[in-house]
Amino acid sequence: MTSSSKPDSNRPIRSYVIRSGRFTTSQRTAIEQHWVEYGIDYDAAPLPLEEIFPGGTRLIVEIGFGMGDSLLQMAREQPASSFIGIDVHRPGVGKLLHGIAEHGLTNLRIICHDAQEVLQHCFDSASIDRLLIFFPDPWPKKRHHKRRLLQSGFAELASAKLKAGGTIHLATDWQAYAEHMMDVLEGIDMLENAEGSNCYWECPIRSATKFSRRGQKLGHDVWDLLFRKR
Ligand SMILES: C[S@@+](CC[C@H](N)C(=O)[O-])C[C@H]1O[C@@H](n2cnc3c(N)ncnc32)[C@H](O)[C@@H]1O
Repeated sequence: MTSSSKPDSNRPIRSYVIRSGRFTTSQRTAIEQHWVEYGIDYDAAPLPLEEIFPGGTRLIVEIGFGMGDSLLQMAREQPASSFIGIDVHRPGVGKLLHGIAEHGLTNLRIICHDAQEVLQHCFDSASIDRLLIFFPDPWPKKRHHKRRLLQSGFAELASAKLKAGGTIHLATDWQAYAEHMMDVLEGIDMLENAEGSNCYWECPIRSATKFSRRGQKLGHDVWDLLFRKR
């Protein structure tokens, strides 16, 4: 092993793997043409939200929007709310940029960077109304559980960024991950389960996503969790 290939013990554990690949021409073109207008370059400093969304009131953030279907639909249906999507998957960023431009949306912007760092540095405490995390990678193997996005440190950070009364909504079609999410969120003092202690959200309000459709086709159950900041 050369020194450059030694594992770096200081490297943070990431909840994603960046896969090179499979851009369509339209996704690539959308990044070239629309990133400047609808993308936000990551900087480890609070976002100037008033400048980005002048007069914006409710701030909704989706982490890991994937191909962006649910986010685009929500932003179209709720023009009075402001949306920020965070993902590292560039083909999905391209697809969402294409959708934003096609519909001329002014209430949706994208950050392409690790969500943990974005949450930590780019949002003030008590600045987010709703935080959405739909079908995060379940990392099913035990040795990979540490890569799951939803850990207590992340949940503490996310809760601190919610306004009082703000909510965090998670969905997964992986039962063991749903149980892990429940354990973690029930353990955060700042949060209360909006559905009652240890209860899942039986009739969730959630737009379809690529992974929700895939799960449906495979006949998977889905578990939704809704927690509110006290
Ligand atoms: C399994 S996909 C689900 C995508 C979408 N929510 C859906 O339901 O179709 C998980 C997504 O989360 C993104 N992701 C995972 N960890 C992330 C992180 N730390 N920061 C930003 N994006 C992340 C991945 O790139 C991927 O697009």
